[in-house]
This record gives sequence, structure tokens and C-alpha cells, in this order.
Amino acid sequence: MKVFVTRRIPRPGLDLLKKEYTVEINPHDRVLTKEEIIKGIRGKDGLLCLLTDPIDKEVITAEPKLKMIASYAVGYDNIDVAVATQQGIPVSNTPGVLTETTAELAWALLFSVTRRIVEGDTFTREGKFKGWAPMLMLGQDVTKKTLGIVGTGRIGTAFALKSKGFEMNVLYTDEQRNEQLERELGAKKVPLSTLLKNSDFVSIHVPLTKATHHLIDEKEFHMMKKTAVLINTARGPIINEKALVKALKEQWIFGAGLDVYENEPEIPMELKNLNNVVLQPHIGSATVETRTKMALMAAENMSRGLKGNIPPNCVNKEVFLRKSTT
Ligand code: GLV
Ligand code: GLV
Repeated sequence: MKVFVTRRIPRPGLDLLKKEYTVEINPHDRVLTKEEIIKGIRGKDGLLCLLTDPIDKEVITAEPKLKMIASYAVGYDNIDVAVATQQGIPVSNTPGVLTETTAELAWALLFSVTRRIVEGDTFTREGKFKGWAPMLMLGQDVTKKTLGIVGTGRIGTAFALKSKGFEMNVLYTDEQRNEQLERELGAKKVPLSTLLKNSDFVSIHVPLTKATHHLIDEKEFHMMKKTAVLINTARGPIINEKALVKALKEQWIFGAGLDVYENEPEIPMELKNLNNVVLQPHIGSATVETRTKMALMAAENMSRGLKGNIPPNCVNKEVFLRKSTT
């Protein structure tokens, strides 16, 4: 069987695939266009894709032989899973292995913004540091403050648990109660408006869905404290970026730390011109260890799926339920 890989991923994953399959990899060091993906999967049984690939109906139905889609990411809002399910094609993601890594980046952003690390670094390199000064680069304390977690799935929970050393008051929103956070941190489940009004730091950890699109909009920014910091390591469109620019420019909030954007890789110049925001190039899972684990996980899912078994990280198990009842 043949597999198409839309971009070079860490070697151990590719080696695992090559043991069993004929593997064709995007030869360019760039994101493929939809047309190139469609061309790439011609005659292929499996598609190993990235979060930057639009895997819509046109792509999913382009090759009748296609029987497995393994994504090298935890978020799968770029894939039309409903269409894949209709076509009987299992889709897998890479949950778990990137949880701590992404939670760590959220903390890195939180401290970068509260202590103005990037601004301070630039200032120092530019030769502007003329000695200790009482009013230089004043930021916000973190210890004993209120932390608001929007979405306490794997990453939100890991992010919250890492606050232990900072003795924080933790608020969260989620569809379900998170007993672990309540027990270990005394966290309280509250409505989003309560969380926004009371939190010093708000970190987004929900997946992007129709329901979470622009979850944080102008109205929500108005609820936040003037000293608040907003962190987003989830997906850009969860925040209305225009409203965010306004909130940062007019200082409705203290600052923001972003790893994701509404129209990646485009970032509005207005956002880039502000110094109360720290910008990262979507690197939440980007450590040597985690990217290797993700590659192995995607390859393992591909291999199981192509053999007709349920991939360990299948996001549309209905495909198999249906197969077994018909
Ligand atoms: C990264 O954003 C991922 O979904 O893996
Ligand atoms: C700061 O360096 C201090 O000694 O207060």
C-alpha cells in the first residue's frame, strides 16, 4: 500500500511507515496547495497530513482508494471529519504526547507578557539599559493571583496543575466538572463571564468548533480586568483578532501572549506593531521529544488504520461501529 505525507516529519515516524509502505513525501519545504495534495494522494491508500492542510470534501473524495487519514496534530478543525466518516475513512490525531509541551509554552507566554521579557530583551540589546531604575519595565506579579482556564481538557488541565507553585486561585469553564482540578487546586467551575471578570490571567484551551469561534470578542474583552493577560495556544479564530487588536491598543487589558492567529500564517501589522503582545509562530508542540513522539504516533495510527483496525487515536470511531453493524 502507498502513503502520501504532506510534509517531512521527524525521521522515526517516516522510518516506521517505510518499513511497511511505499511512502511519498512532499519534496518541498513548504505547505502544499489543495491541488498539490489532491495530486499527491492519487493512487494512495493513506494520507498523513498536518494542521496546515485543508482536508475538505474535495480532498477526501478525490481518491477512491483512500482509506486512512492520520494527522500530525492534536487539533483537527482543518479536517472535514463528517465527510471522512461518510466515506468510511478513519481519521486520527496525536493527543496526549503534546499536552505538557503545550502547557509549558502557555506558561512561557504568560511570564513573557507579565514580566515583559521580549520588550526587555530588545531594550537591553539596543543599548538602552543605563542602569537599574525604579520605574523600568514594570510588569504584573503572578503568585497568588487568579488564573482563568477556558477549557479543561488535557492541555488546560496540565496548564492549571502547573500553577501549584504559584499558589493561585483557579477558575475554569468547561462542559464538565473537572474533579481533579477541584480536588488538587480548589479550582471553581464558573460561567465564562465570571471567569473573565475575576481572572488576572486567562488562558484558552478549547478546540476550535462552531461554538468556540470568536468565543472571546469585544464584549468579552470589556469584561476583563485592565491588568489582565490573555494567552492563546489553542486556535486563532477562538478570539476575534480585530477586537484583540483594539483591546491591546486601547489598553483594555495589560497584554496578550499568542501562539496562534486567525488567518495563519498572516498576522495583522497592527498586532505586530504593539509591544504589549508576545507573538510566537505556532510552536506549542515544538520540542524535539514531542515532535518525535507525534511522528511515531501518526505513523502507528496510519499503520493500524491501513490494516483495517481501529487506529489508537481515532477521532471518528463511528466508522467502525457502522462497519460492524452492516
Ligand atoms: C497544534 O496546534 C496541534 O493541534 O497539534
Ligand atoms: C534589586 O536588584 C534590589 O536589590 O532591590
